[in-house]
Amino acid sequence: MSDLNTAQAEAKAESRVFYPPAAFVANAAIPSMDAYNALCKEAEQDYEGFWARLARENLHWHKDFSTTLDESTAPMYKWFEDGLLNVSYNCLDVNLQNGNADKVAVIFEADSGEVSKVTYKDLHAKVCQFANGLKSLGISKGDRVVIYMPMSVEGIVAMQACARIGATHSVVFGGFSAKSLQERIVDVGAVAVITADEQVRGGKHLPLKSIVDEALNLGDCEKVKSVVIYKRTGGNINLADGRDVWMHDLVATQSAVCEPEWVSAEHPLFILYTSGSTGKPKGVQHSSGGYLLWAILTMKWTFDIKPSDVFWCTADIGWVTGHTYITYGPLAAGATEIVFEGVPTFPNAGRFWSMIEKHKATIFYTAPTAIRSLIKAADGDASIHPDKFDLSSLRLLGSVGEPINPEAWMWYYNNIGRGNCPVVDTFWQTETGGHMMTPLPGATPMVPGSCTLPLPGIMSAIVDETGYDLPNGQGGILVVKRPWPSMIRTIWGDPDRFKKSYFPEEFGGNVYLAGDGAIRNKDTGYFTITGRIDDVLNVSGHRMGTMEIESALVANPLVAEAAVVGKPDDTTGEAICAFVVLKRTRPTGDEAKQIATELRNWVAKEIGPIAKPKEIRFGDNLPKTRSGKIMRRLLRVLAKGEEITQDISTLENPAILEQLKQAQ
Ligand code: WTA
Repeated sequence: MSDLNTAQAEAKAESRVFYPPAAFVANAAIPSMDAYNALCKEAEQDYEGFWARLARENLHWHKDFSTTLDESTAPMYKWFEDGLLNVSYNCLDVNLQNGNADKVAVIFEADSGEVSKVTYKDLHAKVCQFANGLKSLGISKGDRVVIYMPMSVEGIVAMQACARIGATHSVVFGGFSAKSLQERIVDVGAVAVITADEQVRGGKHLPLKSIVDEALNLGDCEKVKSVVIYKRTGGNINLADGRDVWMHDLVATQSAVCEPEWVSAEHPLFILYTSGSTGKPKGVQHSSGGYLLWAILTMKWTFDIKPSDVFWCTADIGWVTGHTYITYGPLAAGATEIVFEGVPTFPNAGRFWSMIEKHKATIFYTAPTAIRSLIKAADGDASIHPDKFDLSSLRLLGSVGEPINPEAWMWYYNNIGRGNCPVVDTFWQTETGGHMMTPLPGATPMVPGSCTLPLPGIMSAIVDETGYDLPNGQGGILVVKRPWPSMIRTIWGDPDRFKKSYFPEEFGGNVYLAGDGAIRNKDTGYFTITGRIDDVLNVSGHRMGTMEIESALVANPLVAEAAVVGKPDDTTGEAICAFVVLKRTRPTGDEAKQIATELRNWVAKEIGPIAKPKEIRFGDNLPKTRSGKIMRRLLRVLAKGEEITQDISTLENPAILEQLKQAQ
């Protein structure tokens, strides 16, 4: 708990408070703490009634539900189960009926800077045609489809088309390797893969289709009957007869009318893989009704979305943020959104600011890592400093994916928001489907570095290791005490792991364990997240399990043993540091450098470039207890470059610490 104590001290030290600007409050959906408290009270007094009201007010139901929450199968909770709806109908058809047919749904900016716009009517037609195309391939309700695509309108179309026909999609981030892709295809039992010939980012082309070919050749993918390819660049690809089909050929003869498949609110909309502390990545399964309800509500509450907004979430559709705040939430809310193919540093690190200026973005949502790296870039090159751009269209800023340090928060607030825009620091997870704790931009006084308070209906609490509530001011373990509609339903194919990971018996088996530590401020009750309490790292806002990286390393024929820990990093939040014992003698000097490079590339091939260790240190051994357990807490101290002050009496081989101290 020593990390929690440090965070406790830091949380206490932050005393700056920023109030929502009057101009924002004047038109806000939730314009005061009283309004926020009234919603919280409604939820407390009649929990199911609260959610039922919101579900009926915010979604189109083909058939109304009679039961709001079914706890009989806890912790596999069911929401609105006998209600029938279609997610794509709620995102598209509803907008056509609401007078948004000619409204721009997506402003797409390519890596090259080329811009194209798609209206709700266009998007609806594209989704219907592609949905019909998928049906013509024999894909139907309940089938799983893997999507491995670049940021594109077509990527959104692919996801929405699956939703339209009741197929469950599983999007795999374009940066994952063939091996990671294959593992997900196999685990989810996909019948089809939707991909592109190539992905273009920062001027570089990545051959997605050939990675798909490689993945399918790794074996166990017999269930995959079709591969659909979006032609992004026209780059060279192989087309397998009878299996592969171009997206444009598939839709050419399809009607732009496609009756939606009405599914139960509990029907799995998607499965998204994420890292846990042990074993392989887990397939987080989300529902249709409860998930979409929270996507649209958080657009309204957290982002205060208005018809005139130009919303920009910079995430990738390969992560949950891209699912909820690109593919589903903004469209369900009838918003105009920016979708960006490229990277923030191409052609230069002013790209985000120039795009905000060009498209007159009003809401901007990005990750602390991006902010920190752009601070550095702006410090080094005045020509791309945000003060060179007209950012006056902005009215709200958001942060997601990792803790935002108060310094980065202040820079964001002052340099991007010019002191006029609230900053919503949104805490949530792949498993939660949408925001859990965040300031409400028209109501909550903001404190840099704190995600402040839970949204109405979210019963967050902090407990000790035995599940007892802790008083404010004391760091502990973050839990959610009641099920909520957008929560994870299960881990695909592994309900036992679901129960053990999220509803462990130690806590009574009935509270959701987030996997993060947190502390509440003594005076305000505000929450500050103190970081993961398990072996999950957060590198540039991406979740990585240390075990996954260790398994990848020991799969290399040179490696005997490996232990991976996180170390604080100014830009990426955390960096991956690997301690490695080779099967041969410990390398030093140039040889160590060369083997480290080899191992880094190996990890990139096994998992993906995002998992490459930043630092690799070689030892003759690892620090172990007498029973042979690796003492990771000592490795964490060594990785930080700090002196070991902890008790090392249980350590069998203290001499090893000296050797591992030095970075190679
Ligand atoms: C961390 C991303 C502090 C946290 C949406 C969580 C945060 C993990 C914040 C989930 C935040 C996310 N402040 N920490 N505002 N947002 N985290 O599943 O450790 O990729 O458990 O979901 O990121 O990461 P995931």
